[in-house]
Amino acid sequence: MIIEKDLSAKKVRIGMLGFGVVGRSVYEKLQENLADFSARAGGTLEIVKVAVRDPKKTGLPENLVTTNIEEIISNPQIDIVIELMGGIEPAKTAILKSLKNGKSVITANKALLAEHARELFDASDVVDEDIFYEAAVAGAIPILRPLRESLVGDKVLRFMGIVNGTTNYILTKMFEENMSFEQALKQAQNLGYAESNPTSDVSGKDAAAKAAILGSLAFHTPITIDEVSCEGIENISAWDVAAAKSLNMVIKLLAIGEITPSNKVSIRVHPTLVPNSHPLAAVRESFNAIFLDTLLAGELMFYGRGAGGVPTASAVLGDLVAIARHRLSEVTGPEETDYADYEIASISEIITQGLIQMDVRDIPGVLEQVAHTFAQNEVSIQALRQNGRGDDAELVVMTHPASEDRLQNTLKQLAKVPVVKDVSSFIRVAGNTSYIN
Ligand code: HSE
Repeated sequence: MIIEKDLSAKKVRIGMLGFGVVGRSVYEKLQENLADFSARAGGTLEIVKVAVRDPKKTGLPENLVTTNIEEIISNPQIDIVIELMGGIEPAKTAILKSLKNGKSVITANKALLAEHARELFDASDVVDEDIFYEAAVAGAIPILRPLRESLVGDKVLRFMGIVNGTTNYILTKMFEENMSFEQALKQAQNLGYAESNPTSDVSGKDAAAKAAILGSLAFHTPITIDEVSCEGIENISAWDVAAAKSLNMVIKLLAIGEITPSNKVSIRVHPTLVPNSHPLAAVRESFNAIFLDTLLAGELMFYGRGAGGVPTASAVLGDLVAIARHRLSEVTGPEETDYADYEIASISEIITQGLIQMDVRDIPGVLEQVAHTFAQNEVSIQALRQNGRGDDAELVVMTHPASEDRLQNTLKQLAKVPVVKDVSSFIRVAGNTSYIN
């Protein structure tokens, strides 16, 4: 027997801050599926106000739109605030005030969480309200809830994530279509993947914010963006692409978090060589993926769309239904734990293989001088290839695993060796997993 529940008695009222690509998709998909989502939540969901910068452009009913965020964050009738403005302020103040006023909060604001998560979580603890942010990392991919809940009985040893769609799109186009960096970036912008200032995509800053959020959950340790060592893809050249291809590898911008042998947490973003046999190598275009190594489950991979309005709306709406359920049952969801408080390792402490490319003079004794520099720094060479180029030559060296410290010293000294004209690139290789070694 199906018992029809009268949902109309239970209402959950929602206010939205921001109506950009994601905001519009959240609104439209909620309206399209309102009956289903309400049934899942156990009460009628209703968007009662949307705060926007320019009210003319929304196409929303006039009574729904405001330019004054106070009409949402201080509105006693609103239960849940969805913050999709982005940026630090006024988003931070708006979230803090919403919580103080007894509202639950959903945000996709990675930059804000990567800097101020602790303050926001403390504020939500004080008032016992939920703050959920699944959409802040890897768009549609459910990864934060699995880390917080499903894997809370396991131990994450390492994550390697492709968490920026724009850079993954650019690298894919450079590898598969020999497209120039600039051309591929332009396409990614046209497709709506890039941030309003795409520098934060290509510099790795967007991925670093996501690494901080992932690392905080994975290692039960508060991590902020300034603790993430970060390099972008600005300097990846056609030479790097050719070298990677010759090694049956691809280059991916990875957000990496791992527990080091000295029991610290290394957290970083940099272009990384990934063997074609690794599942992350198959993550193309704007897709994202997070590959986990855990103590008990072993290897896990989460794959999906990391950017774009409609996919990201899936994560926001998932949080919305979850929080609505909580409010209707007068409970809150599980909180973040940061009891482990790992020390953050400096990047100089990591152990990695490195691919080094340099332009050298093509004269007798060059290899000896170069090899001597590696030997002096106790960096062992795994493979070396020389390609002639007129009077000069290009040397491509793959090292065995060595400490970053030794590798950086080697690079510095190589630059001073007279026969070395230019050390043109250094790219780290993805760390040990069963796929790699
Ligand atoms: N600019 C981001 C990206 C959007 O390219 O992944 C999603 O956070």
